[in-house]
Amino acid sequence: MCGIVGYLGHRDAYPILIKGLHRLEYRGYDSAGVALLTAGDKLNIYKSRGKVDDLERFCESKDVSGTLGIAHTRWATHGEPNDINAHPHFNASGSLALVHNGTIENYAVLREALERHGCLFRSDTDTEVLVQLIDYIRRSTGCSTLDATREALREVVGAYAIALIDSDDPDCLIAARKSSPLVIGVGEGETFIGSDASPLVEFTNKVVYLKDDEIAIIRRGEPLQVITNDNRPSQIDIQELRLSVAQLEKGGYPHFMLKEIFEQPQTIRDCIRGRIIDGRRVQLSGIQDNQEQFASASRIVIVACGTSWHAGLIGKRLIQELANLPVQVEYASEFRYSNPVVGPGDIVIAISQSGETADTLAAIKLARERGAFVYGICNVVGSSIARETNTGTYIHVGPEIGVASTKAFTGQVTVLAMLAVSLGCLRGTLSDDAAAEIARGIQSLPDLISDALSVNDSIKTLSATYTYVHNFLYLGRGYNYPTALEGALKLKEISYIHAEGYPAAEMKHGPIALIDNELPTVFIAPADELHEKVISNIRQVKARGGAVIAIVTRGERSITEIADHTIEIPAAPVCLSPIIAAIPLQLLAYHIAVMKGRDVDMPRNLAKSVTVE
Ligand code: F6R
Repeated sequence: MCGIVGYLGHRDAYPILIKGLHRLEYRGYDSAGVALLTAGDKLNIYKSRGKVDDLERFCESKDVSGTLGIAHTRWATHGEPNDINAHPHFNASGSLALVHNGTIENYAVLREALERHGCLFRSDTDTEVLVQLIDYIRRSTGCSTLDATREALREVVGAYAIALIDSDDPDCLIAARKSSPLVIGVGEGETFIGSDASPLVEFTNKVVYLKDDEIAIIRRGEPLQVITNDNRPSQIDIQELRLSVAQLEKGGYPHFMLKEIFEQPQTIRDCIRGRIIDGRRVQLSGIQDNQEQFASASRIVIVACGTSWHAGLIGKRLIQELANLPVQVEYASEFRYSNPVVGPGDIVIAISQSGETADTLAAIKLARERGAFVYGICNVVGSSIARETNTGTYIHVGPEIGVASTKAFTGQVTVLAMLAVSLGCLRGTLSDDAAAEIARGIQSLPDLISDALSVNDSIKTLSATYTYVHNFLYLGRGYNYPTALEGALKLKEISYIHAEGYPAAEMKHGPIALIDNELPTVFIAPADELHEKVISNIRQVKARGGAVIAIVTRGERSITEIADHTIEIPAAPVCLSPIIAAIPLQLLAYHIAVMKGRDVDMPRNLAKSVTVE
C-alpha cells in the first residue's frame, strides 16, 4: 500500500527519496511523486502514473535540487491512478506539499465545506482535502503551518501517515501518524522518514516509531521534536534497527518471492531459535509471562486476514488438539463489525505478517476494549499490532518483500505449533513425552523444508503443462484443508488464474460439478488418518476426466498410481505437515506465474501491507 519517504539534511534529497521509493515498491502502488525544496525556496513537485522508473524518466530534464523533500508511491483509493491524483498534493499557491497514506473518511464533508469557502480542487483524492484544509486554517486564523496541521488532524476522521513541507519554512519537515505507520531515521545532521524502515536502513540504524496522534517536527540543525495532536511534548524513544541492506535485496534470485521460498530452512531456524529447550520443551516468553491468563482461558479467538487467516485455521486445529481449548477463527474484517461476544477470560490471538493490517488492528482494539487479553503473532518488529497487543511472539523470518506471503506463512504456523505445545503443557493436556515428540518435529523442520525444496525443478517442468488453464481446484482435509486454501490463494494472486480451495470431502456437495478435463485439481494428500478418504476423492475426480496433481508423502504408492502427477514431500508429524506441503504449492504458483509473464513480486492491484479498510 502507499509508501512515504522524506529527507531533511545536508545531502541532495532526490537520490535518497528515489532509492527509498524503490525500497517501498514491494508494498504495491500505481503512481509516484516527489516534492523538493530548492536552495531558492522554490517548491518543485513532479508526479507520474506508473512505476518509480517512470517518475525518474519524467524528472530527467527537471530541477531536482534541494536538501529537503518528500516522496510517495500511491495505491489508489480515492480516484483513479493518474498524474493528478498522484501525491504530493499541494495548496492553491503551491507553497505546501503533502503526502499521505491511509484514508480520510470524512473527506467529502470537509471538501464540500472548503468548496463553499472558495477552495478549488484539482484531484479526486482525500489527501488534497487535507492539504487544502491545513492551508485554509492557516490563512483564516493566521496561525503557523504546524498549528494548522495539528488543528486539521484533529478534524479528520480516519487513518493517516503524512509528511508535509512548506516553502515559507524551508528548514522544516512535519510528519504525523494515526493508524498508519511512520518511522523516523535519526542520522548525523540529517533525518529520514519512511512508511517502514526499508528506505532508512542504509543511512542509519537509529529509529523512532511514531505513535498514533503524534506529530514530529524535524528542523534543520535542531534535535527531533515530537508532540501530540493536542500540543503536549511526547517522549522520544530511539531504538536500534536490526535490519540489513542484504535482507532487502534479491541476493541473486530473479524474484524476491523465489528468494523467500528458498530462505525458509533458515527463517524457520531463526523462528525456533531459543524457543525449544533441551530438544524437548517449548518456551515462548509471551506464554511464560502470562501463565495465569492462558491456564484459566475458556476459549481462544483468532483474528487475521488472508494468508495469516489460513495460518490461523491451522492454529485452531493445533490448539484444539494439543491444548483441548476451543478456538474460533475470524476474518478480522468481519469480526470488527459483528458485535463479537468477547470479553474478560477470552484470549484473542491476532496474526499479521506486517503488523499494520487495518482490519486486524481494528479487531484488536475492539477486543481490548471489551476486556479480552490480546496476543500478537507478527513479523515486523515494532509494528502497530505488536505494540497494540498485550503480549505476543515475533516469527522472526526477516523482511518479506514479495507481495505473496511465503516465509511468513510457514513462520506463523511454526509459532502456532510452538504455542499449542506450550499451552498443552501448561494446561496439562499434553504429556511431556508427546510434547517432546512434537518439539523434535519442530526442530527438524528446517531440514524437512530443505528436502521439500528439492522438487523445484520438477515443479517447474510440471508448471509448463498448466500455464494456460483458466481454473484450478485445491483440495485437502484435516490439517491440510487450510493448506489447500493457501495454495489456491498463492496461485490466484500472482498468476491471476482463478483457483478455489475446498475441504476435499465437500467436493461432492457442489464443486464436483465443475470437474472436467479443463479443470486440474491439486490434492494435498500427505499420509494421515484421512488418507484413504482422500484417495477416494481423487478417484472421483479421475472418473470425471479431471487431471490430478497430488502432493504426497515420499514413498506413497496408491496415489502415485492414479494421479497424473505426484509431488513427493518428506514425512513429517501430521500436525506440522502444512508447513512442508506449503513449499511445493508456493513453487507451483511461482513457476506458473513466471511462465505467464506476471509481475510476481508486485502483482496487479495488490498491496503488501493493507493499511486501509
Ligand atoms: C497473501 C497475502 C495476504 C496477507 C493479508 C494479511 O499472500 O500476503 O493475504 O496475508 O493481507 O496481511 P498481514 O499478515 O500483514 O496482516
